[in-house]
Amino acid sequence: MVLDADPDLGPVVVSEDDLRDRVAALGKQITDDYAGRPPLLVGVLKGAFVFMSDLARAIDLPVGFDFMAVASYGSATKTSGVVRIVKDLDADLGGRDVLVVEDIVDSGLTLSYLHRNLQARNPASLEVCALLVKDGPERQAPDLRYVGFRIPAEFVVGYGLDVEERYRNLPYVCVYRGAQP
Ligand code: IMP
Ligand code: MG
Repeated sequence: MVLDADPDLGPVVVSEDDLRDRVAALGKQITDDYAGRPPLLVGVLKGAFVFMSDLARAIDLPVGFDFMAVASYGSATKTSGVVRIVKDLDADLGGRDVLVVEDIVDSGLTLSYLHRNLQARNPASLEVCALLVKDGPERQAPDLRYVGFRIPAEFVVGYGLDVEERYRNLPYVCVYRGAQP
């Protein structure tokens, strides 16, 4: 791949094969857990779009789709602690079984904020499926019902994750070693 030749890319953290297998397993688990009450999948843009696309096709239920965009990073690679809704949901969550689909949980600030915000809209249930969770000091994250992989606390890109909008279409997750914007 031309993308592979980028000198800013470090070792692979989660391979294409591992992503495929784990996403299939998560889809099966969600299919079993939500039998008879198909969830509304709420994707957190932009990072979750690749994961959500694969995950949804691994779930054998008539799920709904909605998306939300929040900004916690600006263009930097360190958390600012400031979270704001850039795009809100179209759906009314009242009485719905909501499953939030996130790309990565780092400090957990984004997810904590999102969880409080969505809980206030009175869903029947609210759970989170995060593809990646970084190891590290105290996470603020609410309970994560589904987790794809726990990874070391390094900045990673690929499979939806970016640095200033680059690398989202890498088919695997790898370390980013370039200059931090
Ligand atoms: P948190 O609020 O610190 O948990 O950060 C969550 C958000 O920051 C994620 O949804 C990502 O958009 C972004 N983020 C955190 N770590 C990384 C990373 O290693 N690569 C790319 N984006 C990241
Ligand atoms: Mg994100």
